[in-house]
Amino acid sequence: MKRLMTLWLLLIAMAGYGQSADVKMKTYVDGLMKKMTLEEKIGQLNLLTPGGGIATGAVVSSDVENKIANGQVGGLFGVIGEAKIRQAQELAISRSRLKIPLLFGSDVIHGYKTTFPIPLGLSCSWDIEMIERSARVAATEATADGLNWAFSPMVDIARDPRWGRIAEGAGEDPYLGSKIAAAMVRGYQNGDLSKDNTLMACVKHFALYGAADGGRDYNTVDMSRVKMYNEYLPPYKAAVDAGSASIMSSFNVIDGIPATGNKWLLTDLLRKEWGFKGMVVSDYTSVNEMIDHGMGDLQQVSALALNAGLDMDMVGEGYLTTLKKSLKEGKVTQKQIDDACRRILEAKYKLGLFDDPYRYCKSDRAATEVLSADKKAAAREFATKSFVLLKNNNQVLPLKKTNSIALVGPLADNKSNMLGTWAVSGNADLAIPVLQGIKNEGATQVLYAKGANISDDTLYAKKINVFGTRIDIDKRSAQEMIDEAVAVANRADVVVAVIGEASEMSGESSSRSRIDIPESQINLIKALKRTGKPLVLVIMSGRPLTLNWESANADAILFTWHPGQEAGNAIADVLFGDVNPSGKLSTSFPRNVGQIPVHYNHLNTGRPNPGDAFNKFRSNYLDVENSPLYPFGYGLSYSRFEYGPLQLSSAALKGNQVLTASVQLTNKGAYAGEEVVQLYIRDLVGSIARPLNELKGFKKVLLKAGESKTVSFTITPEDLKFYNSALRYDWEPGDFEIRIGTNSRDLQSVKINWVK
Ligand code: NOJ
Repeated sequence: MKRLMTLWLLLIAMAGYGQSADVKMKTYVDGLMKKMTLEEKIGQLNLLTPGGGIATGAVVSSDVENKIANGQVGGLFGVIGEAKIRQAQELAISRSRLKIPLLFGSDVIHGYKTTFPIPLGLSCSWDIEMIERSARVAATEATADGLNWAFSPMVDIARDPRWGRIAEGAGEDPYLGSKIAAAMVRGYQNGDLSKDNTLMACVKHFALYGAADGGRDYNTVDMSRVKMYNEYLPPYKAAVDAGSASIMSSFNVIDGIPATGNKWLLTDLLRKEWGFKGMVVSDYTSVNEMIDHGMGDLQQVSALALNAGLDMDMVGEGYLTTLKKSLKEGKVTQKQIDDACRRILEAKYKLGLFDDPYRYCKSDRAATEVLSADKKAAAREFATKSFVLLKNNNQVLPLKKTNSIALVGPLADNKSNMLGTWAVSGNADLAIPVLQGIKNEGATQVLYAKGANISDDTLYAKKINVFGTRIDIDKRSAQEMIDEAVAVANRADVVVAVIGEASEMSGESSSRSRIDIPESQINLIKALKRTGKPLVLVIMSGRPLTLNWESANADAILFTWHPGQEAGNAIADVLFGDVNPSGKLSTSFPRNVGQIPVHYNHLNTGRPNPGDAFNKFRSNYLDVENSPLYPFGYGLSYSRFEYGPLQLSSAALKGNQVLTASVQLTNKGAYAGEEVVQLYIRDLVGSIARPLNELKGFKKVLLKAGESKTVSFTITPEDLKFYNSALRYDWEPGDFEIRIGTNSRDLQSVKINWVK
C-alpha cells in the first residue's frame, strides 16, 4: 500500500514536472514571439540549403548569409561538419536581430559519416533492438558533428520494387514497419531532445509516398481509406506515438490533393486524430510543386500549405515571398502564421538551442565520435545481420579459408557502390571492397577478375553517374572480360560472383521498369556456370530483383543489399561462417515485373487460385505463377531449424482472454544460429474483406547447435483489431487461423474461435 502511494506521488510529481516544463516552454516562446515582427515569424518558417550536400531538386537556395542575418531563415540542411555549422550558427546569433538559433538538419538515413546498410537491408535483420541501436549510433555521430535534426526515419510502406526508394524503407509490412519506425525514433531522440547526443527525428514521407502508380517516383497515389488506415498509415502513426518531434509531408497527391497542401492529412488526421504536437516540414520544394499539380500559383499554393497545417517550407521560399501578401488579402490568418512559428520555436527550445546554440558544436566530441572505431564495428555487425541467404545447395557455404576462390564480378573489388543510396555524408573511399574483406579474413588463394561492367550501356551509365562514377565502363570488350573471369574460375575450387545494382540504380528518382540484373552481368554468370564450378552469387541491390535464372542455376545466393562502409569485411564474415546469416526478407521478391504488386498480406479474391498451376476462370496469369519467387519473411541459415507442433492454450476464447501460441524450435544444424520465428493471423470472416495473412509478432531466437527452446507468443484481442468501413478500430468475433513458421509461406496453422 505504502509502495503504491509512493508510486502515485511519483507519478503526480512527474506529470507536474512535464506540465511545468511545457508551461516554461510556452512562457519562453510567448515572450520571444511578442518581440518578433511578422517578417521574422515568416522567416522562421523558411528552411534552406546552401548547397554542398546533394540537392534533390533543381533549386539550391541563394543568398543564404544575408537571409540569415535578416532573420529570414529558420533552419538549414546540407551543411556538413561541426566547424561549418558553428559558422552558420554564429551568423544567426551575431547578425540577426533576435539571435534565434537555427535548426541544422540532414539526411542521416543509414548512419551518418559511418555508413550502415541501406534501411531496407537493416529491416531484414528483424532485430528491433539492433535497429534502434543503429539510429542511436548515428545520432551520437551526427550530433557530435553539429547536427540536431535527422530527416529520418523513412517509413513508407512499399510494395512495388520498381520504385527506387523502396531502398530507404522497411519493406511491405505495416506490423514490422511500425516496430522499426518506433525503434528508429527512440534511437534518434532517446527520450530527451535536450541532450547533446540526441537528434530530432523527422518521420517521412507523410503519407503513402510508397504507393506511387507504376512505381514511378513522385507519381499519383490513389487509395481507399480502409487500405490507408490498415496497411499504409500504421508506421507513421507508430513513429508519432513514439514521439517523433517532426514529420515531413510527401510529394504525392492523396484523394487528389498534394500531401503538402492536404488539410485532411496534416490537420484532421495528424493533429486532431493522432494528437501530433510537433512540427511539419515540406519535402524539397513540394510547396512550389503544387503549381505543377495544378493547385494555383505560388501565392495560392503557399497559402494552401499553411492552411493545411504545414509549418516549414523546404527550399522553395513560397512562404517567405508570399505569406505577408496572403495575410493582407485574408487568405491566411495571423494565427496560422503564429502557430507554425511557435511549433518551430518549440522544436528549437526542446533541442536546448536557446540555452546554448552551440550545444551540438563541440569540436572535442566531433574528434572522438566521428568515424570512431566503435562505429565502424557497429557498421560491420549491422551489415552481417542484414544479409539474406536465399539459397545454399549442398552447403556450398560457408566457404573454407583453404579453398581457392575465384572472386569475380563488377562489385567484387569496388568501393564506389558499397554505401548505397542516400549516403550523403558517407565517404566511399572508406568502404571495404569484398576482395579486401576476403583477404582480411585470411583467405590465401583468391583469384580476382572483374568479369563484366555493371552495365555496358554508356547512356544508362551517364544517368547513374550523377553523383560520381558508379558504373565504370572498362576499356576491354565484354568478351575479353568474361574470358578472363572464366580462366580464373577454371583454376579455382569455387566461384564467388559479386554482382547486382550500382548504388544509384535505386533511391530517389531511380525507378526501373525492369528489375533484373543487367545483361552484361547475366552473360558473365552464365559463362561462369558453364565452367561447372560451384557458383556462389553475392548480390548487392537497393531493391528486390527478379532472379529466376540465378535462383535456378546458382548453388548459393547471399543477398546483401548495399551493405555500407564495412561491406567487404561483413560479407567475408558471413561467407566464411564467422557469422551465421539470419536475415529474413521484409519484402517479397516477384518472379517478374508483371506480377507487381506482390505482397504476402493481400486480400483474397472470389476466385482464388488453389496453388501455382493455371486454372481457367481463377484469378491467375497465363504466363507466370501468382506466388513470389521468395516470399516475405524468407531467409535461410547455415543451421537447419526444426519446428515442433504448434500448441495453443485454447481453441475457444471469449472477450479479453489471452491466447498463448507456442512451438518448440530445435537447431538441427552444426552451427549456432538465429531464427526469426514468425506469428501470423488470418481473420476468416469480417465485415470487410480481410487479408489472407497478417504478421502479428516475431521473435529472433539464438540457438546453439543441437539446442531446443520453446518460443511463445501471447495473443490478445488487440492483435485482432482493424479499421472497418466506418474507420472504427475494433475486432470482430469469429474464426481465426493462428499460424507460426519460418516465413509467410511455410506455416503451421490452427483454427480458433474468439467471441466477444
Ligand atoms: C527530398 C527527399 O524526398 C527527402 O527524403 C529528403 O529528406 C529531402 N529531399 C532533403 O534532402
